[in-house]
Amino acid sequence: MQSSINKIAVVGTGVIGTGWILRFLFNKKHIKIFDPSDKQKKFLLDELKRTSPLLKKYYKNNININNQLKFCSSIKEAVSDADLIQENTPENEKLKIKIIKEISIHTKKNSIIASSSSGLLPSRIQSKAKNPERVLIAHPFNPVYLLPLVEIVPGKKTAKKIILKANKFYTKIGMKTLILKKELPGYLSDRLQESMWRESLHIINEGFASTKDLDDAIIYGPGLRWSLMGTFLTFHLAGGEMGMKHMLEQFGPALKLPWTKLKAPKLTNSLKKKIIEGTKIQSNKKSIKNLANLRDNFLIDLQKLLKKYKA
Ligand SMILES: NC(=O)c1ccc[n+]([C@@H]2O[C@H](COP(=O)([O-])OP(=O)(O)OC[C@H]3O[C@@H](n4cnc5c(N)ncnc54)[C@H](O)[C@@H]3O)[C@@H](O)[C@H]2O)c1
Repeated sequence: MQSSINKIAVVGTGVIGTGWILRFLFNKKHIKIFDPSDKQKKFLLDELKRTSPLLKKYYKNNININNQLKFCSSIKEAVSDADLIQENTPENEKLKIKIIKEISIHTKKNSIIASSSSGLLPSRIQSKAKNPERVLIAHPFNPVYLLPLVEIVPGKKTAKKIILKANKFYTKIGMKTLILKKELPGYLSDRLQESMWRESLHIINEGFASTKDLDDAIIYGPGLRWSLMGTFLTFHLAGGEMGMKHMLEQFGPALKLPWTKLKAPKLTNSLKKKIIEGTKIQSNKKSIKNLANLRDNFLIDLQKLLKKYKA
C-alpha cells in the first residue's frame, strides 16, 4: 500500500538530519533539504558515499539522488509542499520554537511537523506554531539509518490522529515506534542513558575508574544482555525460579544502599506489583528456563560478533 507521506522536508542536516535523509532515501521518499551551513552539503554527500554500499544491501533498494534529493536555499522552499517535515536543528528550545513556527507558516496546513529533539517538551516546541496540533517529537537514535527506535512524544495540543499517522509512517520506513503516554523531559531512552552518563561522570570525577573501565563495565556485561532483554526482563531472570518477585525481595533493600547518586523511590507494594506484572506480560508465557535458554544462545552468538568487531 502506498503511504500518504511521500514528500519529506529535512531542516538541519547535521548528524541526525543526514541520518534521516539516508533512511528516507532508501525508503524511496522524495526529500527537500535546508541547512544554512554550506559545509553540511559536503558532510551529507560524504556520508552518502560511505554508507551507500552497505545500505543498498541492508534496504535491498537502489536510490536516485538526482530524482529524490533537492537542496533548497530557505526553509520556505524546502517545506512548502512537504507531507512531513523532520526538524533537526541544534538542541536549543528558543531556536526550535522559532524554527517550528517558521516551518508551520510555510507548509501545508495538514503536514506533520516532527522534531528530532532529544528531550525538550513538545508542548513548548509547538507553542508558537500555526496549527500546533500537527507538531510532535519523533526522537531517533544515531545512526538513524540503522537504529530502529523512534520515540513519538505528543505535546498538549498534538492531535491523536496525527500521532497515529506518524506512527504508521515511521513503522513503514522500518522503525520501532514507542508512543509516549505523555511528555516528560528527556523522554524514555535518554532518561535511562542520562542516568548512567551522570553516574559515570561522578565516578570519573571522584577518581574511581577510567573511561575505559566504565565502557568495559558495560560492553562485556550488562550491555550484551541489554540488547536482547532490557533491564526488567534481565532482572526477572536474576530472580531464579521465582523471577522478579524473588529479585525484588533479594535486592529491594539495596535500593537504600549508596550504590548510586540517584535517589531511589520507595519500593511500595503498588510499585512492586507494577514491576512483577509488567515482566510477567513481557515473558509472553515463557518459563524462566525457556527465557534463560534464549538469553544464553543469544549471548553465545553476540560474543562471536563482539570478537569480530571490537575496535
Ligand atoms: N546526535 C545525536 O546522537 C542525537 C540523537 C537524537 C536526537 N538528536 C537531536 O537532533 C537534533 C540535531 O542534532 P545533531 O546531533 O544532528 O546536531 P548537529 O550540530 O550535527 O546538526 C545541527 C544542524 O542544524 C543546522 N542549523 C543550525 N541552525 C539552523 C537553522 N536556523 N535552520 C536549519 N538548520 C540549522 C546546523 O548547520 C547543523 O547542520 C538536536 O535536537 C538533537 O538533540 C541528536
